[in-house]
Amino acid sequence: ATSKRVVSGIQPTGNLHLGNYLGAIRQWVAMQDAMADGDDCLFFLADLHALTVAIDPRELGANTIEMAATLIASGIDPTRAILFNQARVPAHSELAWILNGTARMGWLNRMTQWKDKAGKNREGASVGLFAYPVLQAADVLLYNATHVPVGDDQKQHLELARDIATKFNTDFGVELFTLPEPLISKAAPRIMSLRDGTAKMSKSDPSDASRINLVDGDDMIVQKIRKAKSDADALPETADGLEGRPEARNLVTIYAALSGGSVDAVLAQFAGQGFGAFKPALADLAVASLGPIRDRLTALLEDRTAVAAILDHGADRARTLAAPTLRAAQDAVGL
Ligand code: ADP
Ligand code: NA
Repeated sequence: ATSKRVVSGIQPTGNLHLGNYLGAIRQWVAMQDAMADGDDCLFFLADLHALTVAIDPRELGANTIEMAATLIASGIDPTRAILFNQARVPAHSELAWILNGTARMGWLNRMTQWKDKAGKNREGASVGLFAYPVLQAADVLLYNATHVPVGDDQKQHLELARDIATKFNTDFGVELFTLPEPLISKAAPRIMSLRDGTAKMSKSDPSDASRINLVDGDDMIVQKIRKAKSDADALPETADGLEGRPEARNLVTIYAALSGGSVDAVLAQFAGQGFGAFKPALADLAVASLGPIRDRLTALLEDRTAVAAILDHGADRARTLAAPTLRAAQDAVGL
């Protein structure tokens, strides 16, 4: 078997929540844990991507450290996975610029995320927001990633990375870039707001009660689950019975994800019971699962310099892997 190289980034936004944990971070931990000998996982904080929208410089630095600490607290082992922040590996920016010569305006214009994020204000959007997918292409091509975990919203960007790689290889007559395959995690659940089962759990929701933050204390977790919107019916025998009950479905989904079981397995256990019984069980499970992560996170954040040192070490390793690809790309274009 050929070895796998998984590369993935996440923007260092503050205040991570249960949705980020179950939908993103835990998938990374699973990939790391599934690594065979000779495989690599590179996980980075996408601080360069963060510059494409308005940022507060003080928060960006702090969020990067907090995000790294959250990943470590959640099970990313920086001695196995390579954990770093993008800005400390200049090859990302350098390769992105080279690839700007290959990417076409028309390709980027077709990106639905660009259309969504720029909206009607294209003239006022940053150039970085437009060119964002080129930096993303550089992020993975730089390491000859074989597999890139993508959610639905990122599939188009990975397709673009493959198009850029193909055109570059063809234009310059090289076999430099590996075409990365999408790694679509079927296990990644979409977690909804605790106040409105049809909206995504999100840090941008003004209601703190809508989400469980990874820094929430045990009492807060219990209280938020107790107050979570639900309904007066008993839980059904199978998932079809959750049709038209988004809040119920969400709470069962959270239970399933935290317990590592399926929705049907949770329902087999709780069918016939109401939320008066289910919510305390969910609260216990959430506290048991998230409490240790929060405690490790708190301990890590007591020494931010140590977290920064972990990122520096990761950046050293990443630079070593990136250097030959950047050099070859420069050679190919005559730099
Ligand atoms: P937010 O919506 O809070 O701003 P981000 O957009 O920064 O979160 O997402 C960071 C990562 O977490 C992405 O991989 C995203 O798919 C995942 N994620 C965010 N919210 C959820 C959610 N409610 N359920 C599942 N995954 C989520
Ligand atoms: Na978002």
